[in-house]
Amino acid sequence: MKIQFIGHSAFYIESNGFKGLIDPFITGNPLATLTVDDFPEITHIFVTHGHGDHLGDTVELAKKHQALVITNFEIATFLGAQGVQAHPMHIGGRKTFDFGTVKLTPALHGSGIHTDHGIVDGGNPGGFVITVDGITLYHAGDTGLTMDMKLLADENIDVAMIPIGGNFTMDIRDAVKAVEFVQPKKVIPMHYNTFGLIQADPEVFKREVKNSEVILLHPGESISI
Ligand code: NI
Ligand code: MN
Repeated sequence: MKIQFIGHSAFYIESNGFKGLIDPFITGNPLATLTVDDFPEITHIFVTHGHGDHLGDTVELAKKHQALVITNFEIATFLGAQGVQAHPMHIGGRKTFDFGTVKLTPALHGSGIHTDHGIVDGGNPGGFVITVDGITLYHAGDTGLTMDMKLLADENIDVAMIPIGGNFTMDIRDAVKAVEFVQPKKVIPMHYNTFGLIQADPEVFKREVKNSEVILLHPGESISI
């Protein structure tokens, strides 16, 4: 499996025929080194919540690639009305797809969708536990630290993607605690340094996390596991 950090909370995941994007905020992402044209094929798009820095290029990419969007019911309904193929799930639900399994996890955050006509209800924000070809990923979305994260230790997470930027999400101090709760084999910090309000030093996170391997990726960089 290839896991590529696009910048902010956006990741590209490739494993055999599965070519997925999580929170594809690419256009307008101040940190992104890639553009939407760097992804010639996309099969699935995962959207954790309705905020613009996560919904990002979802509509354009889903239509262009006939990709299936997996997200909560409210966002799936919003996208479906725009002609996007979307599969609705909700917090705590798990489903087996042709590529593997997906579980929607809780997040403490908002999910309003900014439109030209004001904010549309984007349901509850979430995160994803995604298992593809025997590898289990956890993308936390935007969230504060929650006790519920302790339950994720049972999911045997191989790679966790955890926000560390503070202000809108966990800061480093809480993200370190989240890693203790989730117990992933590897963790990639995200949602930091994109904007002035979410400045954080990932080296501090790396130093303070114990028992999980911290992988710092610059936008555009990837790992193979
Ligand atoms: Ni957000
Ligand atoms: Mn965000």
